[in-house]
Amino acid sequence: MELECRELQPAEAAQACAFTETIFGPLPFEWWEKEPRFTASVAFVEGEMVGCIPLSLRRLKLAPGVVVDTAWENAVGTREDLRSRGIGSAMIGAAREFLADRCDLLCVYRGAERSTGYHFYADKTGHVDLCHLSFHRLETPEGTVPAGFESYPHTAVAKHAAELARLHDSNWSAYGGFPERDEAYYPWIIDSIIWGRIRTERRLHLLRERGAVVGFCITGVREPGRYRDESCYVLDFAVAGGDEQAATRLLGGVLALAAEQGRPVCWPTGMHTPYLALLDSHGFVQGPRRMEVMAIPIRPASLFGHLAAVRGGCDLTLDVWTPTVDCRLWDAGDHAPRVTLEMKDRELCLMLTSRLDGAAALEDERITTHGPAPRDKVRETLARVLRCTPWAYHHLEYI
Ligand SMILES: CC(C)(COP(=O)(O)OP(=O)(O)OC[C@H]1O[C@@H](n2cnc3c(N)ncnc32)[C@H](O)[C@@H]1OP(=O)(O)O)[C@@H](O)C(=O)NCCC(=O)NCCS
Repeated sequence: MELECRELQPAEAAQACAFTETIFGPLPFEWWEKEPRFTASVAFVEGEMVGCIPLSLRRLKLAPGVVVDTAWENAVGTREDLRSRGIGSAMIGAAREFLADRCDLLCVYRGAERSTGYHFYADKTGHVDLCHLSFHRLETPEGTVPAGFESYPHTAVAKHAAELARLHDSNWSAYGGFPERDEAYYPWIIDSIIWGRIRTERRLHLLRERGAVVGFCITGVREPGRYRDESCYVLDFAVAGGDEQAATRLLGGVLALAAEQGRPVCWPTGMHTPYLALLDSHGFVQGPRRMEVMAIPIRPASLFGHLAAVRGGCDLTLDVWTPTVDCRLWDAGDHAPRVTLEMKDRELCLMLTSRLDGAAALEDERITTHGPAPRDKVRETLARVLRCTPWAYHHLEYI
């Protein structure tokens, strides 16, 4: 079998879209066409497309002030009769190579940790769990529509893009783990490709105080008849400064609308959401962990550089050794003390994404060191640059 794996060429986009439909169901091509930053890793055998991994390129906030370039896999598929022959792994391998000129991380949302699909990501191709997500459910919502609560179809989102981005930053400034909210974010994400695949009625809810918008929630209800789950999903939620009273009123309005329609409410979150007490007080029940954000570092030195740039720099030359990688993370010049940080690939991925505390990993011997740099200096550098940041998740980002 002569296999070729490479980046999709623009003229092949319709073919790639049609290929994904054979595995994942209908996706009108116009949804693919209007994605502004989209590519794919594709596999061919004897000129025929036999595999495809669509890739959405996104600017991901790892931690306050740290935004990196990422590619998100979705609708990962190999033609059924050719599975378990290394095609999926080869497409990932090709993506790692051709994305190296533009991306720091290759990412995927994945669930079902005991499934063969998860095994493909975690064991075959080396994706690492960065963050676990759980779904909170409220079967019989009750609530009151508060003064200043307004509800619109999703087409209103573009008009409010700037204030939504500002409110999101204000609420979630201490967190990482989600795409950077700039002015272009909301008009794009509210019409992104996932809504072509999972047909969903999206709505924007605003909370005003003295005329100013102080909070918003975007909700989604899947198209009737097509899906078993017709819950109202909380897709995005933010109030200025994370104000608890505003959050309570905003959620009250959302619950009241869901109650009117007789729908349960489902709110997927990361483990560190600041709204756990709010969810508990309204009777939401937290499910077991259900999805992961997984990733493979593509450019380790670039990731480290982004962290060092906002965390006081680095005056050590750092090399990394793992069972599969040798690389220079940081070059502090010819006369700088040098050290090799030795660890598994998993720890490297977690530290470079701000998901593992470097000093604690050193203490716990998950990192060992080798080389002449003074130990205290190494410890101080890791403690400062490689700190752990809480991550948040908003279901609007799912792909
Ligand atoms: C997941 C998938 C893309 C892997 O592609 P592939 O070409 O079979 O990949 P590889 O040959 O490199 O790796 C195969 C591994 O994937 C795992 N796998 C996951 N789902 C699988 C499936 N439906 N059939 C066969 N293997 C599967 C197997 O455990 C296998 O491991 P093994 O070789 O140790 O048995 C392919 O199985 C597929 O298209 N599945 C259906 C769509 C899907 O579920 N996509 C993932 C979610 S978006």
